[in-house]
Amino acid sequence: MLINLFTALCLFVVVPFSNLDAVILPNPQRDAAVGADLAQVRSFTVGKNCFLKDGQPFRYISGSFHYWRQPPEYWEDTFHKMRAAGLNAVQTYLSWNLHEPEPEQYNFRGNVNIRRFIKTAQTSGLLVVLRPGPFIDAEVDMGGLPYWLLRMNSTMHLRSSDQSYLTYVERWFRKVLPLLADLTYANGGPIITVQVENEYGSYGSDLVYKEFLRDLTRELLGPDVVLFTTDGAADYLVVGGKVNGTLTTVDFGTGANVTQNFIDIERKYNTDGPLVNSEFYPGWLDHWAEPFNTVDYQDVVKTMKDMLDFSASFNTYMFYGGSNFGFGAGSNFGDTLEVIIQSYDYDAPISEAGDPTEKFMKIRELLGRYVPLPPGPVPPARPKAAYGKVRMVHAGNLFQNLPELIHSNSIKSPLPLSFEVLKQAHGFVLYRTVIPFATRDPSKLTVDRLYDRAIVFLDEKPIATLSRSAGVTSVDIYAEAGQTLDLLVQNEGRICFGSHINEMKGILGNVSIDGHNLTTWQMFPIDLPGFPVHDPKPFGFTEREIPSEFGLQAPSFYFGEFVVTERQDTFLQLDGWRHGYAFVNGRNLGRYWPVQGPQKTLYVPGVFLHENAPNILELFELEGAPCGHAQSCVITFVDQPHLNGTVPQLGTVRQLGTVRKLGKS
Ligand SMILES: *[C@@H]1O[C@H](CO)[C@@H](O)[C@H](O)[C@H]1NC(C)=O
Ligand SMILES: *[C@@H]1O[C@H](CO)[C@@H](O)[C@H](O)[C@H]1NC(C)=O
Ligand SMILES: *[C@@H]1O[C@H](CO)[C@@H](O)[C@H](O)[C@H]1NC(C)=O
Ligand SMILES: *[C@@H]1O[C@H](CO)[C@@H](O)[C@H](O)[C@H]1NC(C)=O
Ligand SMILES: *[C@@H]1O[C@H](CO)[C@@H](O)[C@H](O)[C@H]1NC(C)=O
Ligand SMILES: *[C@@H]1O[C@H](CO)[C@@H](O)[C@H](O)[C@H]1NC(C)=O
Repeated sequence: MLINLFTALCLFVVVPFSNLDAVILPNPQRDAAVGADLAQVRSFTVGKNCFLKDGQPFRYISGSFHYWRQPPEYWEDTFHKMRAAGLNAVQTYLSWNLHEPEPEQYNFRGNVNIRRFIKTAQTSGLLVVLRPGPFIDAEVDMGGLPYWLLRMNSTMHLRSSDQSYLTYVERWFRKVLPLLADLTYANGGPIITVQVENEYGSYGSDLVYKEFLRDLTRELLGPDVVLFTTDGAADYLVVGGKVNGTLTTVDFGTGANVTQNFIDIERKYNTDGPLVNSEFYPGWLDHWAEPFNTVDYQDVVKTMKDMLDFSASFNTYMFYGGSNFGFGAGSNFGDTLEVIIQSYDYDAPISEAGDPTEKFMKIRELLGRYVPLPPGPVPPARPKAAYGKVRMVHAGNLFQNLPELIHSNSIKSPLPLSFEVLKQAHGFVLYRTVIPFATRDPSKLTVDRLYDRAIVFLDEKPIATLSRSAGVTSVDIYAEAGQTLDLLVQNEGRICFGSHINEMKGILGNVSIDGHNLTTWQMFPIDLPGFPVHDPKPFGFTEREIPSEFGLQAPSFYFGEFVVTERQDTFLQLDGWRHGYAFVNGRNLGRYWPVQGPQKTLYVPGVFLHENAPNILELFELEGAPCGHAQSCVITFVDQPHLNGTVPQLGTVRQLGTVRKLGKS
């Protein structure tokens, strides 16, 4: 087939730089004066090979930036940087699980104030491409679906026309989309296009579901917004994901054959609309225990140029990645569980801490040849502080602090219950039983379907770590009747992609000793703050002596105080510490795991700190603190991130805690 490239091009006029693309707001007087109703003044539609903005050929150059991954105090600065790079749009998902963490308990404040995010984008001169999901992947817990769906009905078929699922989706869309309806382009806002589902062809082909979402979105946002689907650039994916009556778009990264993806694939399903790559990857996501991923800027610029020469619209995923604060990161399921790291830097053009990189400057240079850039320099990087060492103090182990850490009474049940049934969204549950029978030496303790990781204790002494991703779910133990067996089970993040997204967390099978299933369990959901929280408060620990036996290896809390005269972004370096969670002034920065890698530092936004008043850093260290000497019981605040550290050699067992042989008492 001979393709006339010319007919595939969108021929638009390049107009001088204007920061008003997105910000012209409805003005009844002016609109009346020109005898126009608003819809005629502001319109965004699909034309031949182009979008039409107010009737004029238009292409968007967008970047992904997820509001929950950066403190709201920094949003505007990031938008200005995106604009300075030559972008005219920002793309974001909605993360349902953050807005409805428990059924009908809605949150639209602070870090998840989506209206503020969209309006700030507009006043910064950016249009908005909105992707409400409800499934988003985005490497977040359960791909953005709320965990409680699994409690409502454990057999519901997610991302399908299963009525038990649609009921909750519809309730959510009817809550959130009306909040955004006045922000569509035609209504005076910046939202130009809205995605239906998300790469649905990678998951299913349920036409009823796709049409349900399409029709509901239309009903709630009105007929004037352009709807689209996104799928990988392959026929079988596009066929599974496309929906009649919406614009079909594709996604692909660097090194792709742009002609093939746009002309051989997208054009088959989008015969004369604008060509769009909805996710162009300038970097990539990262898992614990795998080397940090990078993409060379030369490859980014080359593929971007190819897309620009097609006059295509495209979105760079991610232009700014940011951080997975708290328990927000999800996991993938490949050969085993692959857990997303805490940073979502993504090797993106704007770094995790919000700074323009070399890749940013090269992209700007390229875009400057195609579109007018805003006058003036690129907004500078925020200053970073190396606050140095902070002495940490032991504040008691898990068991000493247990009464303060459980938000409700413990739950008793003959068999272990899942996190979902226990209403524990994230983090940890302590499972406890008493060994009821005499055992052999050694005997084999096995946890069936351990999701995901557990520290095993006998009479409150840590003896082993089990891990699903390491493939270690049983261990030899030396125990006797009457001893207390505890398992501190860690949810490492629900699966965010593929057919396992409906998987629960906790102990889903049985715990057995030499094949005998243990019954009579007591479960303690551990109450650690997630993210975002509106009123962060430190735990308020007090110093306690380190118990001598296994004191440093037992999961324990530590705290330290420091004062800064000027609050600036900084990075928490945890050399010598092994694995745990860090909290600054009650905000959960997330998981640190320097012995695993590749991430060695945690980003601390300056806005999390207080000036000239004590700042409280608290750690929940699971596997071993460097606190044998006061001099080594420290953390360090540095002014550089370290995300690309070493990881365990391929083929070796991934990092486990110590397995200890205990004598009987
Ligand atoms: C749970 O979902 C399944 C599958 O849709 C359905 O057959 C069943 O009736 C639902 N149960 C409840 C209690 O809603
Ligand atoms: C797609 O939509 C058009 C008009 O909206 C309609 O005529 C056509 O039958 C639809 N096709 C399918 C496969 O539903
Ligand atoms: C890219 O795809 C086009 C269209 O299929 C093809 O003609 C061209 O040879 C491909 N280029 C490369 C370098 O493979
Ligand atoms: C756990 O063991 C009990 C018997 O002790 C059995 O009834 C139950 O089905 C087992 N659970 C699973 C998930 O296999
Ligand atoms: C013990 O639990 C396992 C699953 O965890 C199950 O397969 C097995 O049947 C149970 N044994 C008995 C005797 O119930
Ligand atoms: C890690 O990143 C730093 C800074 O960009 C770079 O100098 C170093 O070579 C990288 N190390 C590895 C192992 O990639």
